Amino acid sequence: MAKIIAMMNQKGGVGKTTSSVNLAACLAVAEKKTLLIDLDPQGNGSISIGLSKDTFAQKNIYHALIGQIGLKEAIYHSELPCFDICPSDNNLVGAELELVSLFARESKLKTAFKAVEKDYDYIIIDCPPSLGLLTVNALNAAHSYIVPMQTEYLAMEGLAQLLNTVKLIKSSLNPELELDGILLTMFDSRSGLHKQVANEIKTHFGDSVFNTIIPRNVKLAECPSFGKPIILYDIESKGSEAYLALAKELILKERFKKSGSSKVAVKPEETSIPKIPEELIMDILPNLENINFDGTQSFEQ
Ligand SMILES: Nc1ncnc2c1ncn2[C@@H]1O[C@H](COP(=O)(O)OP(=O)(O)O)[C@@H](O)[C@H]1O
Ligand SMILES: [Mg+2]
Repeated sequence: MAKIIAMMNQKGGVGKTTSSVNLAACLAVAEKKTLLIDLDPQGNGSISIGLSKDTFAQKNIYHALIGQIGLKEAIYHSELPCFDICPSDNNLVGAELELVSLFARESKLKTAFKAVEKDYDYIIIDCPPSLGLLTVNALNAAHSYIVPMQTEYLAMEGLAQLLNTVKLIKSSLNPELELDGILLTMFDSRSGLHKQVANEIKTHFGDSVFNTIIPRNVKLAECPSFGKPIILYDIESKGSEAYLALAKELILKERFKKSGSSKVAVKPEETSIPKIPEELIMDILPNLENINFDGTQSFEQ
């Protein structure tokens, strides 16, 4: 049964789409069957993995949400064997309005997932930059959520509203919803401000912040225009290293949670992701070995 994760923050430009696409791709190279749901009408996630809009104009998340087709019909394969996507385009703007009048409008995505959740290990939902009905559908369908935050001044502005929405969802629709973590993104290790903001967020949220920090990395900004996730665009980039580390941290968190331990304590034999496909293994392993979890590592650009 898939673990369903909503990548959410009502702010635009904080790295939701970049993190959804690249985390999903990195989970896939660890042979975790992963489905990316593009729930943003801008459709940036769909373009970022190289799908052309014409191919999915008639069958995408919009059609599945309004019940015209089953979700399975709106799923497309990516270049990576374990990585599928359910794309979106600007039709989805209409869905938010059309859903308003429907019965159980907050549960459309949750219901749609019933048909596919057995087929995947992870479902990652790239949320739109709002706290509207689409995001509510995502949070209702999800087991957990990740909040990407840019290490900029005013990073925490809007967070109270976000947490309030989560609280409402938990009290009314989805009591089991959990925070996987706050993800610091676009971090520039040379910037005093970035360090200060990162420290402030860590002081505030402690263990709720992922140890992995995503650096500002030009390759991450470039790869969508080539229609590739970072690991297929430049495996040696700091961006690849960071998202592989995030995938690993998430997998280990889950494993330790299942084993009843609340802390991620990494034993040496558990530091490599098992069963990476042969053709990628030579490229990825050197990167994995450089990754640690003591929370002190920040990636250079
Ligand atoms: N770590 C990063 N380094 C450099 N550029 C980034 C990074 N993360 C995201 N970007 C760029 O910043 C912009 C906003 O990121 P995006 O993931 O689309 O945010 P959101 O989905 O929250 O709106 C995009 O142009 C993206 O390519
Ligand atoms: Mg986005």
